[in-house]
Amino acid sequence: MTREAIALFRETFGVAPSHGGSAPGRVNLIGEHTDYNGGPVLPMAIARRTVVMAGPGQPGVIEVISTRDRERGRVEYRLEPGKGTTGFVVGVARALERQGIALTAGARLAIASDVPVGAGLASSAALTVSTAYALAALAGTKLAAKLAWLVGYQAEHDHVGVRCGTMDQTIAALGKKGHALLLECSSGATKQIPFRGTLLLVDTGVRHDLAHSAFNTRRAECEAAVEKLREVHPGLRWLALWPAEEIPRLARLLPPTLRARAQHVVGETVRTRAAARLLERGRLGNFGKLMYQSHESCRRRYECSAPELDLVVQAARRAGAMGARMTGAGWGGAALVLIRPRDADKVSSVIRAAFERRFGRAPAITGLESGAGARVEKVPGTNG
Ligand code: GLA
Repeated sequence: MTREAIALFRETFGVAPSHGGSAPGRVNLIGEHTDYNGGPVLPMAIARRTVVMAGPGQPGVIEVISTRDRERGRVEYRLEPGKGTTGFVVGVARALERQGIALTAGARLAIASDVPVGAGLASSAALTVSTAYALAALAGTKLAAKLAWLVGYQAEHDHVGVRCGTMDQTIAALGKKGHALLLECSSGATKQIPFRGTLLLVDTGVRHDLAHSAFNTRRAECEAAVEKLREVHPGLRWLALWPAEEIPRLARLLPPTLRARAQHVVGETVRTRAAARLLERGRLGNFGKLMYQSHESCRRRYECSAPELDLVVQAARRAGAMGARMTGAGWGGAALVLIRPRDADKVSSVIRAAFERRFGRAPAITGLESGAGARVEKVPGTNG
């Protein structure tokens, strides 16, 4: 992607870029819709990345082009919010300036990415975090990973208005090849855990739009549940902090929809911590069982799955996969399938055939490779 971004920069702006940054997409192994509820998540960075090449422009102005739409955007970023990709970039620039990292010479950016949009692989975090690295480098600052995720988060949450949690930006910044990251979202504590399993990624091709999907509604439902549960536990800060041994009480304390959401979040919290312990001990078989349980809870209680995802998970189970589940926000996007390496062909063909029979088209099935976290990209021929 680096070469593509450099070529696009030259072709668009007529000069070479001076600085660059990149960040990966991610899969979430387990721990879905727990992050904004103060629970644990277990994402892993993937080998697909977004690369941003940058150079100085005009003070107060940001110009953006990406290989995705090839439309050149130009905004006075302190005055206009920007739309689409440019909106995310403006969010990053403003968040950096809030941290005292000023773009005195404005910026020109060229973006190349092989992280698909809307597939549940956190393409927007790959965009914001890579942009944060590139713009900070352009401003002469080496960005610390713990600031990079915060800047990415503020851009998406505060500026673009998706009420996301902190998982995607954190894994984009801290990802480590061959490792899953256990992140406890209420404390920010992290732990790298080696991942030695074999995963297939099945992209259903069904695309969601986070900002307009049920995502913000779910978040509001979780907040309403916390509000109600405070009547019995006045100190309850996050839904995920509801005690696991008091799950049965939720049925009495909450109306049906809020009850289902809360049961998912508290149950998923327990599952995710158990899954992290299993992964540490190399117990992939039991880990896979928790993936199936997580999917079922997402489908039934959180209602964030889709018929295409459910079919993939069922077919994977029939084909003897160790585990399978949707990954990311849901309502479409991709599923993860945990397999024994020798079963790759068998499991893929069972899933493909079942999917084609039901939906009349093939899903994209690929082996999943883990990747490294965000970094500054050297631009050949410069000191940047
Ligand atoms: C999206 C959000 C994340 C997280 C997941 C669901 O990817 O950006 O913060 O909430 O959905 O687990």
